[in-house]
Amino acid sequence: MTPTWIDFKTHNDGDGSLVAIEGGKTIPFDIRRVYYIYGTEPASVRGFHAHRQLTQITVPVSGACDMLFDDGKTKISLRLNRRNRGLVIPPMIWHEMSNFSPDCVLMVLADAAYDEADYIRQYADFLRHIQSKSQ
Ligand code: TYD
Repeated sequence: MTPTWIDFKTHNDGDGSLVAIEGGKTIPFDIRRVYYIYGTEPASVRGFHAHRQLTQITVPVSGACDMLFDDGKTKISLRLNRRNRGLVIPPMIWHEMSNFSPDCVLMVLADAAYDEADYIRQYADFLRHIQSKSQ
């Protein structure tokens, strides 16, 4: 499993930096939803799910956190710590976020509206889906 990162152009004009993200251009889908996670404790762990259809791109616009990526066969741990770099979370990747810095603000761009039916929240269900697809 090779995760996909997207590096965004940073406009530095001497008075700080600006990053622009355009749906269908900078990232490969139209943005249907934006949400962000903040106020996490260093011991917080979030996620613990996979999505059936949803694709997301997550950008640590402040601070840093770890992202565990699990495709049902391989688990890898990634550090999100660059404000101009997004990590693509494709469908059917079990993911968990941890080791949040106190200033972490994790922005997430999604290609669809919120739909609880798209979530797989039990790890055993996730593995069953992966196994049924590979047969
Ligand atoms: P959840 O996706 O479980 O968060 P995490 O994976 O970071 O632990 O969502 C937490 C709560 O927020 C849950 O009650 C659903 C709600 N929620 C929305 O209402 N809209 C959204 O777009 C998202 C992502 C979550």
